[in-house]
Amino acid sequence: MEPNKQSDWVVRSLRSVWHPCTQMQHHETVPLIPVSHGRGAWLYDHEGKRYLDAISSWWVNLFGHANPRINAALKEQLDLLEHAMLAGFTHEPVIRLSEQLAALTGDVLGHCFYASDGASAVEIALKMSFHSWRNRGQAEKQEFVCLKGSYHGETIGALAVTDVALFKDAYGPLLRASQTVMSPDARQAVDGETAQDVARRAAADVERLFVERGDKIAAIIIEPLVQCATGMAMHDPLYLTLVRELCDRHQVHLILDEIAVGCGRTGTFFACEQAGIWPDFLCLSKGISGGYLPLSLVMTRDDIYQAFYSADVTRGFLHSHSYTGNPLACRAALATLQIFEDDHVLEHNRVRAERLTQALAPLANHDRVRHFRQRGMIWAFDAIRAPADFSRRFFSTALEHELLMRPIGSTVYMMPPYILSDDDIDGLAANTLAVFDKVLAG
Ligand SMILES: Cc1ncc(COP(=O)(O)O)c(C=O)c1O
Repeated sequence: MEPNKQSDWVVRSLRSVWHPCTQMQHHETVPLIPVSHGRGAWLYDHEGKRYLDAISSWWVNLFGHANPRINAALKEQLDLLEHAMLAGFTHEPVIRLSEQLAALTGDVLGHCFYASDGASAVEIALKMSFHSWRNRGQAEKQEFVCLKGSYHGETIGALAVTDVALFKDAYGPLLRASQTVMSPDARQAVDGETAQDVARRAAADVERLFVERGDKIAAIIIEPLVQCATGMAMHDPLYLTLVRELCDRHQVHLILDEIAVGCGRTGTFFACEQAGIWPDFLCLSKGISGGYLPLSLVMTRDDIYQAFYSADVTRGFLHSHSYTGNPLACRAALATLQIFEDDHVLEHNRVRAERLTQALAPLANHDRVRHFRQRGMIWAFDAIRAPADFSRRFFSTALEHELLMRPIGSTVYMMPPYILSDDDIDGLAANTLAVFDKVLAG
């Protein structure tokens, strides 16, 4: 018999698995939780303890674990076609998904190019932007611009347009230089400034750079509305509208990385809808498969697609991944889109969001909290005078209160799945307050 005690799995995991984004030595004090199964918003360990997945398992899970509708779609797909290469072949799930996503943009972004992880989608968008300028005879446009505090993934190209020192610094010598402009983070407001004033200030920084060297710049890449990994930095949609205008004026591509903020997370299906704009490239991943299977994609405008369309093979976009457009992952995504439609998810999320915001009022008004903020289904606040090990202590204490939460530095945030019941919402708010008080009390 295989050992199946909780402690056995921990020992075996630490012996054989190298966990992501983890200083493994921390597991000498920080618990590692073997998950036995998931149901709805809850994860269960082998001893029957449960944890409310308040961060949707790294922001991917939209409709709960073991969702019956997504499960059924996958079981059906499994008996039809688990995988086929997408070069020279195509299949119903990838076609339907591409059509449905394009329709959600009013067919402005008419072609989808597929990969598996978010970082790969970012690599694709960067390569496509550069190559499309080259195909049009503007090979000097080679530079990329990113925002202060940006996060676009861990592969070498994505890390080059990321501005989080903890992830980037060790690899500095490997990375191509990029230009970094001011973040539109509304927390920077000074002297009575509004979020829109900060957005204008940040857009002016982009304009300064574009005027100076727009002819060398291929694209600017932005996480629209919320820069998540840097600590849920939120900005006004006006910023996106202004940057879109600047991109048009200076012939610079706009890449929107909606990997974390897409799929309804900010209140609209695509975050950029709130600014009334479309980018040249839109990257999607995480929630698009409902949190079931690795799937990412880049949606592009027709003029980008046409820049590669030629009798010359070298003008084509010859990028590929083995699992590009995997039918199972696409089928999970189709089931996810169907749930959005059938359940009027965006509408119901507004009601859920209102209830959670109200339930979090004691935290919003807490004397050790500043910058309480919310957009769509994302909540965040910053702890005042947080101890150095705040994040790890919060994580461990939250587990004792049936919560899976991982603050980013001193920023506590929630990104729950879109299925929380009223009881879940009230429990989440009450337990977060209890954990916060306990951690700050030492
Ligand atoms: C905005 C953004 N872009 C890219 C990524 C990278 O995605 P992945 O971890 O799937 O490579 C993330 C992951 O958190 C993200 O938040």
